Amino acid sequence: MSPKHIYGLLYVLILLPGAASAERVDDPQILAEGRQVFQQHCAVCHGSKAQGLVEDWKKPGADGKYPPPPLNGTAHAWHHPLSQLSRVVKDGTARLGGNMPGWGNTLSDSQIENSLHYVISLWPEEIFRGWEERGGYQ
Ligand code: HEC
Repeated sequence: MSPKHIYGLLYVLILLPGAASAERVDDPQILAEGRQVFQQHCAVCHGSKAQGLVEDWKKPGADGKYPPPPLNGTAHAWHHPLSQLSRVVKDGTARLGGNMPGWGNTLSDSQIENSLHYVISLWPEEIFRGWEERGGYQ
């Protein structure tokens, strides 16, 4: 392989994936606001560390609806990009037959998004990377 080809290959292997992967939001002000919103409005159902309060969160309750899942990276929140998570929090899940209240009338879009940035800040690195591959900040 000529040096030119090797440089081309290195570019594809190193620079392109690097350029595609975003840094995790770590602005202290955003995370502080998100944490405050989360503790005030979300922790009652999802746990103060987003760890979930119902052990068997994969099993519907007596009403046929799912309990609040953990949001700390151990459940499936990381399967959905930010835009979808924001939408679920904003609209709630009543329309989908679920039990999550909608927050669009109580919280601003940025409060909702910041509460999610706080949640995302709790995820282990490999969960964050997996989330990015599924859309992440989109
Ligand atoms: C009254 C209880 C309750 C409160 C309060 C609550 N949630 Fe939920 N949340 C749920 C339930 C129940 C679900 C599961 C979805 C369903 O089937 O209804 C859920 C699901 C979610 C999901 C989707 C998780 C996934 O794995 O796809 C996110 C994200 C979420 N909640 C974030 C929040 C945020 C952020 C707040 C605070 C602004 C909040 N929740 C407040 C009950 C609650």
